[in-house]
Amino acid sequence: MADSRETLTKNAFVVGYPIKHSRSPLIHNFWLKQFQIDGNYGAVEKSPEEFPSFLAYLKGTDTPYVGGNVTIPHKESAYRLADRPDDLAEELGAANTVWVEDGLIHATNTDGFGFVANLDDRHPGWDKSGKALVLGAGGASRAVIQAIRNRGISEIHVVNRTVERARELADRFGPAVHGHPMEALAEVSKDCGLFVNTTSLGMDGTDVRDIDFSPLAENAVVTDIVYVPLKTPILDMAERQGFETVDGLGMLLHQARPGFDKWFGVRPDVTSNLRSMIIADMEEHA
Ligand code: ATR
Repeated sequence: MADSRETLTKNAFVVGYPIKHSRSPLIHNFWLKQFQIDGNYGAVEKSPEEFPSFLAYLKGTDTPYVGGNVTIPHKESAYRLADRPDDLAEELGAANTVWVEDGLIHATNTDGFGFVANLDDRHPGWDKSGKALVLGAGGASRAVIQAIRNRGISEIHVVNRTVERARELADRFGPAVHGHPMEALAEVSKDCGLFVNTTSLGMDGTDVRDIDFSPLAENAVVTDIVYVPLKTPILDMAERQGFETVDGLGMLLHQARPGFDKWFGVRPDVTSNLRSMIIADMEEHA
């Protein structure tokens, strides 16, 4: 007998705590409408105490959900509690996308895919130099490092205020990755074709000390994973120094694509209409 759920509306979610600022519902409902799919994507707020039972509920026969996204602060728990984390989630120790198959929770992490797909879209050839500089060594930095290493970038320099965290990532991600203190920034930026900011530097209104991007490769691109504001202090600085920049909004849009495909069976594109809609929402809620 066919699974009766297949004939019903498909529901997916984003779960976090808090969740009301998430733009994922706007993105996925835009695609559901575009493809005329009988589905819905909603925001679900669950505290860290409530999260394990929410995940367990997904496996039940009465769940309305086919899967969903997991955001702060549940990405590590989602990885730990999933029955089948894939290799990407395993290495990162964090998952942002889950789905149910044969009664088991599968999990992956699409942040790195989103990062690379955005660069491929906005600045093709970004990977040519084979060298990259990653500023910051937090959770977001890990997904970026994993993705660019998997893409074949053979020299990745991670620079962080707390150098121990940068060195920890170098140990975790293998011989392509090197950890350095802030003082080494100029020296290790030399000839890098990609500069990525993964920190919140300058976002709290404090001054960011000037970064000299001139050691980068001539056609280097500077990108930021922060997307509010679209032009972060670091992107502004790079632009003033004549470098090409790519903002972080595309990473958010592209990381959503594999999940949508898993839950609803269609691989959507990131279009200028989608991007404009999200920018309008950001302006409305600025
Ligand atoms: P996320 O998961 O978003 O990456 P995180 O794990 O808190 O968040 O990491 C934040 C990153 O921003 C870290 O690399 C942090 O540096 P430390 O490891 O030294 O804390 C960096 N960061 C935040 N504020 C900073 C500042 N004012 N100057 C330099 N680095 C900063």
